[in-house]
Amino acid sequence: MTVQNWKGFFMPYEQAVEELKVKLRSIRKEFRKKNEYSPIEFVTGRVKEVSSLLEKANKFGIPMDRLEYEIEDIAGIRIMCQFVDDIDTVVEIIRGRKDMQILYEKDYVRGVKESGYRSYHIIIKYPVNMAEGEKVILAEFQIRTLSMNFWATIEHSLNYKYKKQLPSHVREKLKKAADAAFELDELMLDIKDEIKDAQKLFEVKSDIISNIMNNILILHSLGKFAEASRFELSLNKLIEDGEVHELNNLLELIKKEIRKYRE
Ligand code: GTP
Ligand code: MG
Repeated sequence: MTVQNWKGFFMPYEQAVEELKVKLRSIRKEFRKKNEYSPIEFVTGRVKEVSSLLEKANKFGIPMDRLEYEIEDIAGIRIMCQFVDDIDTVVEIIRGRKDMQILYEKDYVRGVKESGYRSYHIIIKYPVNMAEGEKVILAEFQIRTLSMNFWATIEHSLNYKYKKQLPSHVREKLKKAADAAFELDELMLDIKDEIKDAQKLFEVKSDIISNIMNNILILHSLGKFAEASRFELSLNKLIEDGEVHELNNLLELIKKEIRKYRE
């Protein structure tokens, strides 16, 4: 294939990765806007490099004209979750989508690989609308927790360094690290409700604080500088350990003050 042909070959995949990243990130945004917990923490995506595409084709003896059908991860999307059970929620969301079709799923979360690798894989068919019409491509989702991602990233770079011939002491350490990552996920799951509550509390407080700040700015714009500074001082006192009700009280006081000047 010429360089020009390669460019054309990758174009729908690049398009697909961009679209899928936007779509999955907006699921997160939607949850956050509703002030709800998001099962998606963050999303990354990449198109496979030519070199690693050719290496894989070579390894499996795939002819050039079969690449798009046989290599399923030319477009790859990674979805990171905070907790193991979020993975199932994300899988359900993907199963319910009308803009992609699931070809198959591989559950390396319950069926951990020999290497210690864990992740949930979904291969989809995804239609991309290109200038010359629709092109259906294959794409791979890897859904995993942050600790699964940590492990997989490190194992991948070690394999790269040692060209998949890991010395046995490294392999053993990696196996131990995989067990530790698994245990971390289990522990975190045990205190999930606690963590979610803490995160929720943080969001609620940030909301009130930015509301207070906006109102202090309004006081400024009304020329009430002394009052504004007074409220700023009270806010500073509460910002570290103020309770929600104290912050709310302060917010109400400022609003009352503003109403007074507006009447
Ligand atoms: P491929 O040859 O890439 O298709 O791997 P595979 O057939 O052994 O596994 P599968 O197709 O289920 O997974 C594809 C992708 O998952 C790979 O390209 C990697 O990104 C990831 N993956 C699978 N196994 C491992 C592993 O043991 N370690 C790491 N770090 N990643 C893995
Ligand atoms: Mg495979």
